[in-house]
Amino acid sequence: LQKIGVFTSGGDAPGMNAAVRAVTRAALANKLKVVGIRRGYQGMIEGDFIPLKSNDVSGILQLGGTMLKTARSAEFRTPEGREKAYKQLKKAEIDAVVVIGGDGSFTGALVMSQEYDFPFIGIPGTIDNDIYGTDYTIGYDTALNTVVQAVDKIKDTARSHGRIFFVEVMGREAGLLALNSGIACGAEVILIPEAKGDHDQLNKFLEKGYKSKETSGIIMVAEGDEAGGAIQIAERVRKEHPDLDVRVSILGHIQRGGSPTAKDRVNATKMGVAAVDALLDDQKSIMIGLDNEKIVHVPFNKAVKLNHSIDTNLMDIQKLLNT
Ligand code: F6P
Repeated sequence: LQKIGVFTSGGDAPGMNAAVRAVTRAALANKLKVVGIRRGYQGMIEGDFIPLKSNDVSGILQLGGTMLKTARSAEFRTPEGREKAYKQLKKAEIDAVVVIGGDGSFTGALVMSQEYDFPFIGIPGTIDNDIYGTDYTIGYDTALNTVVQAVDKIKDTARSHGRIFFVEVMGREAGLLALNSGIACGAEVILIPEAKGDHDQLNKFLEKGYKSKETSGIIMVAEGDEAGGAIQIAERVRKEHPDLDVRVSILGHIQRGGSPTAKDRVNATKMGVAAVDALLDDQKSIMIGLDNEKIVHVPFNKAVKLNHSIDTNLMDIQKLLNT
């Protein structure tokens, strides 16, 4: 092993830069050469490579986004795209790569490593925290805090006007961000795809509030909720309860930006160093995960196929505190 590549892929997440820095410096410390692959798999296909020295990753630890840029590449999903990518890696004499991204990025790595026997090590980076085998993905903690800050502000105006706010939170098909931010903000109801029957709780809250004239509240809605997004759910509630003052707030991409929290920086740094250790140890097709603060290795095929479980205890607590 002489030269490694590192890249970020899929949706950016705060803390990805900290991981790039850790991978680069840990590799250099082990006398490896490092190449940054820009724009994810698309940049790999196009040979958009830059050499990385220690100085190149100075001053990025605290920055959101990703200095290597990112992309969701449709071309890489084709065998022709992966062939081009493989040829570019060979041409640049890259022996192994570290991919920082979510399950789509690991699926790509798994497929390519099966086709070409090329070593990939994954670092989980997504605000959704939806990857099996790791307690945390890079960016989740920052996004969680961003959501909490935003909802605290919404609460001020919700209480002042006696309004019900449906706040839509990202997370794709996963409700972890909505559940944990809802708990942290004292949301009256949390609607997540993993919980069936949580709409009964919404109906009860609306009935109770309507009768007692206590009509302010925060309803957290995971964007992947089966009943639709916040707009659709609010529309239904407006029809059923025309006297309630209902508003919708979709937090959107604000959740993906900002300076990473200390926790995301520390986790990204630990995982970056562990990824280089794994490569030096001749590992491949594994994701670096964190299990109770300890580094673990999770095979890609498990990380992408299984779901990150939801904390049902938290769901019970939320209901208990809002009966
Ligand atoms: O996976 C991260 C994420 O922010 C999801 O929460 C969201 O569904 C998706 O990416 C949005 O993707 P895009 O920025 O491509 O619209």
